[in-house]
Amino acid sequence: MCGIIGYVGNKEIIPILLEGLHSLEYRGYDSSGIAIHEGNSLNVVKAAGKLNCLEEILKNNGTKNGKNGHVNCGVGHTRWATHGEASDINAHPHFDRDEKIAVVHNGIIRNYQEVRENLLKAGVHFVSETDTEVIVQLISYNFKNSKSLLHAICTSVNELDGSFALGILFKQEPDKIYAVRKESPIIIGMGENENYLASDSATLSLFVNKIIRLGDNEIAEITKDKVKLYSFKGEEIKKSPQTVTKSNDFLDKKGFKHHLIKEISEQADVISNLLSNHLSATSKDKSARVKLDYINLNPDLLKNIDRILILACGTAYHAGLIGKFVLENLTGIPTEVQFASEFLNTKSLLTKKSLVIGISQSGETADTLSAVKKAKDTGTTFVAITNNPHSELANLAKDHLLISKAGIEVSVAATKTFTAQITMLYLLAIYIAETIGSKKEKSLDLLKQELRLLPQLIDQTILRAEQYQEQVLKYADKPDFVFIGRGINYPIALEAALKLKELSYIHASGYASGEMKHGPIAVLDPKVPVVSIVVPGETYDRVLQNSMEAKSRHAPMIAVAVDGDKKADSIFDTVLHIPPVIEIASPFLTVIPLQFLAYYIAEHLERDIDQPRNLAKSVTVE
Ligand code: G6P
Repeated sequence: MCGIIGYVGNKEIIPILLEGLHSLEYRGYDSSGIAIHEGNSLNVVKAAGKLNCLEEILKNNGTKNGKNGHVNCGVGHTRWATHGEASDINAHPHFDRDEKIAVVHNGIIRNYQEVRENLLKAGVHFVSETDTEVIVQLISYNFKNSKSLLHAICTSVNELDGSFALGILFKQEPDKIYAVRKESPIIIGMGENENYLASDSATLSLFVNKIIRLGDNEIAEITKDKVKLYSFKGEEIKKSPQTVTKSNDFLDKKGFKHHLIKEISEQADVISNLLSNHLSATSKDKSARVKLDYINLNPDLLKNIDRILILACGTAYHAGLIGKFVLENLTGIPTEVQFASEFLNTKSLLTKKSLVIGISQSGETADTLSAVKKAKDTGTTFVAITNNPHSELANLAKDHLLISKAGIEVSVAATKTFTAQITMLYLLAIYIAETIGSKKEKSLDLLKQELRLLPQLIDQTILRAEQYQEQVLKYADKPDFVFIGRGINYPIALEAALKLKELSYIHASGYASGEMKHGPIAVLDPKVPVVSIVVPGETYDRVLQNSMEAKSRHAPMIAVAVDGDKKADSIFDTVLHIPPVIEIASPFLTVIPLQFLAYYIAEHLERDIDQPRNLAKSVTVE
């Protein structure tokens, strides 16, 4: 989704804005632009397409970097089109009629048509199709009757309905950026005699190690050596900065062709770190319970929990489905998983005895935040799992926070953050089971022992990448794929289908394998490969049986199966082997060849792997 960067300080500004915009590229975008103070005017340059289109214009039109040593001030933006196609005109920043105010925006203005009509009646002329333009025109309109721009901003934001993070420049104040937050994230980065503004803390960590998260309904006035915060009523607010680790190498692909393949390859290390942080090295130490540092759940409270609800979107939702399986298995507490955007329906079922788990890699997904806020209003206990400790979700969780610590994930499609999320869900399930005594210590010890083996097994699976590549490329011309799995591997079938769609644009569906004969089987023919996840355990025979039904319809047959599975070798045309693993721990391994399948087919089709078309990594509108 849209990304915002801002800078005020003495350094040359364009290289900083461009560096910031490159770091925001992962969010997904289709046009970009910058606005800077130049001489006595505001200079806006913008272009449809990727950042190189903007860079080309900047190179050719003589836009100045700003003089070293003088105060340079500006904002930049990557736009993911919502209202109006991706074009030069619709790209941000947007000007008011007098070109006195420039605005960049992330989010959505729900009442933009109403505001626009009122402004049109008042004689305001619009040039773009965007909802953003109404913001700048409204501020400009209200400024006529205001004592300051801050006052005009306060009046305007109170008239707007929606979610918005804004960066605002005002011609008459060439050393100042205004930032506004309502729901959509925006963070201020504080340096020595310079300050920054960005949509995420990862971008700010390129430049500074101190940040201030703007809260909901807050405004900031940022100059090079001061940050003043106000409420939407214009009252001053005080906040202390948080520390972030400065990091300027997360955009480095470290020799890999794409971030995605680098991130797939990091999974063994990510899980190994998480396990060593939360699990003792051996089961010999009987007192060695799972340790979850930022979880402060009272044992009496946990013993009373009668229902768990997991809220998430996309890949995080699939992690939640695996979490349901493990939580029910270990704790016996009925667990439900809902798309955060569908949450409206069950709000009334939550009580003080419920536990709600919100999962979000970014911690900024609007649907998840909105559902979680509604759930929290019921007084339920709330735990968050996120990869971003500086996110709004982390902020909402306060005492009950699980950080998935996968490191920054740059590729839009989630891979390492998925396996990190499921690791945290397994650890949480064990933690609850240990606290409420729902499972025998011995069987928990056995599971912990299996989890400790995972990093090594994942490593061995990743080492088979080339073999998987050779095996899957013969299916790259197929227009449709069906993925099937059962039990704990049903969510992996869903995730594998999502990964293939996201990366290759090939249509794919995931099904619980028993459901195939109830409809999806109609689509099968020699052009539609069926990918079955067949791991030894309770579901094995049934998935094989369902696969046979597909084979009888002449579908090309692919399996993910363990080494030495002779039955699978004889039934399927292609077997993507994984090391032997017990069923309950198997999703950590079964997902890997399927991530590779999606990657290699997409690479063969020359897709934009790290930034697939139409997708955004952090979806900050509902
Ligand atoms: C977007 C991304 C997906 C992601 C989903 C949820 O749709 O493209 O990769 O799974 O949002 O994101 P979250 O940050 O909440 O996990």
